[in-house]
Amino acid sequence: MSRALVTGGAGFLGRNLSLRLLDEGWEVVVLDNLSSPSPLGPADGATFVEGSVVDPPELPGSFDRIYHLASPASPPRYLLDPIGTLRTGGEGTRAMLDLAAAQGARFLLASTSEVYGDPTQHPQREDYTGSVQVTSTRACYDEAKRYAEALTYAYQRQGLVPESRIIRIFNTYGPGMAPDDGRVVSNFINQALAGERLTIYGDGTQTRSFCYVDDLIEGMWRLSNSDVTDPVNIGNPEELSMKELATTIAQSIAETGIDYLPLPESDPARRQPDIGRARHHLGWEPTVGLAEGLPPTVDYFRSLIDG
Ligand SMILES: NC(=O)c1ccc[n+]([C@@H]2O[C@H](COP(=O)([O-])OP(=O)(O)OC[C@H]3O[C@@H](n4cnc5c(N)ncnc54)[C@H](O)[C@@H]3O)[C@@H](O)[C@H]2O)c1
Repeated sequence: MSRALVTGGAGFLGRNLSLRLLDEGWEVVVLDNLSSPSPLGPADGATFVEGSVVDPPELPGSFDRIYHLASPASPPRYLLDPIGTLRTGGEGTRAMLDLAAAQGARFLLASTSEVYGDPTQHPQREDYTGSVQVTSTRACYDEAKRYAEALTYAYQRQGLVPESRIIRIFNTYGPGMAPDDGRVVSNFINQALAGERLTIYGDGTQTRSFCYVDDLIEGMWRLSNSDVTDPVNIGNPEELSMKELATTIAQSIAETGIDYLPLPESDPARRQPDIGRARHHLGWEPTVGLAEGLPPTVDYFRSLIDG
């Protein structure tokens, strides 16, 4: 039976990826330090090992693939510990690449659209070099991921981990996400479910694209099975302003009104993936729009409240 290590497998995407791998008949080991787990925890059927990728514990057996997702992922989380965030992206990625090199495993790095910073190119193609302000507070995450990508390439070029893949994930939502992750979809749903006014930072014209988790996992799975060693954007190119998102969520839960607060530092004005590479090489494109993806997500948030 094929074996995969999923780092960060107690988190939102790691849990959903583990479920997919188990469905595909893989044996799954999860390594996670439980710093920001999904309320649902690691997938049933996966073997859980608690520990950090920065100083990993002994892991059972060897792996055909390492899916490296461990990282603080939302701004409120990574801004709490900028040094820890850089160490996870740098030292943690190095430790997992060393493990992949020692075991001859294929390696997939979960990178991010944040490598594009506050982009000047729309939509963002993978060959866009990005616009990250290295002294900004968010740089601990953005630069950690840029370094992790460069490191993955270095291991590939030097022949240590020739089979590596890099997925640049754009905002993803769905069942399993942590309700307190401070991301905009969770914030709006929590506020509407609590009957509170929705908070928009800035004037609400900044845009994001939101990918439903099943689409994201399908893209990650296809990329990991492909021979594409260049980074690949996976996200939903449908661009929505924060105001449109707030209005859609309010309409589906409760019309509670909107408050506008000042925009945080370095918050990108626009974010939209060019998914030409994923379409061409993986035959992938998202199939779930917000209208279909929101109801199961809202039901999931409700189920957490109802216990
Ligand atoms: N969800 C998104 O929209 C999104 C967007 C871009 C990139 N990503 C990337 O995808 C990956 C998964 O994100 P997510 O949304 O599932 O976040 P998440 O916070 O739900 O999951 C991350 C998991 O990593 C674990 N972790 C953090 N540091 C660790 C360490 N040093 N050692 C071991 N485990 C550690 C956390 O406990 C958590 O369970 C992350 O690398 C993130 O940067 C996610």
